[in-house]
Amino acid sequence: MHVKITILVGTMTGTAQLCAQEMELALDDGETQVETLLMDKLDSSVFERAGVFLVCTSTYGQGDVPDNAKALYEDLKAKRPDLSHVRYGVFGLGDRTYAETFNFGGKRFDEILGQLGAQRVGERHTHDASSGVLPEETALEWCQNWLAQVKEKTVVER
Ligand SMILES: Cc1cc2nc3c(=O)[nH]c(=O)nc-3n(C[C@H](O)[C@H](O)[C@H](O)COP(=O)(O)O)c2cc1C
Repeated sequence: MHVKITILVGTMTGTAQLCAQEMELALDDGETQVETLLMDKLDSSVFERAGVFLVCTSTYGQGDVPDNAKALYEDLKAKRPDLSHVRYGVFGLGDRTYAETFNFGGKRFDEILGQLGAQRVGERHTHDASSGVLPEETALEWCQNWLAQVKEKTVVER
């Protein structure tokens, strides 16, 4: 089954980008096509692309999305496009040391996309930097499981 995936990366110091690169390497096999885009300069029209979306983002400040994700996040909130055709997953990065705002970057995207009618596939992943486990290690297994769920829920049109 052919699947197109756009990975949208929100990052400050590159960890989320590294995870996205690992996931692209693991999933892109000709049948599944993956494109990774840094969120910098993107606006909500990116969700007009064909295929499914994987939001891969860390958390900063007081539970904010990273700086490079702010324009896209704010544009979604301002324009509120109908995203009922969109299916997405969330690979979030954070640190439990920030107990009150743990993984809020991914959570914020999940909330706004849900409000706009988009459907999440699978559970929102919440990586914890204080766990000692490297996120790029869990990314592999997580994304393969996510893709399997995407395929399960893809209705083949005849
Ligand atoms: C200044 C600063 C603020 C942070 N704030 C939060 C936060 O509020 N909640 C959270 O879960 N993680 C927070 N983090 C942890 C980062 O999200 C985590 O280290 C992540 O892996 C960084 O990924 P990146 O390199 O892609 O930006 C913060 C990290 C820094 C350095």
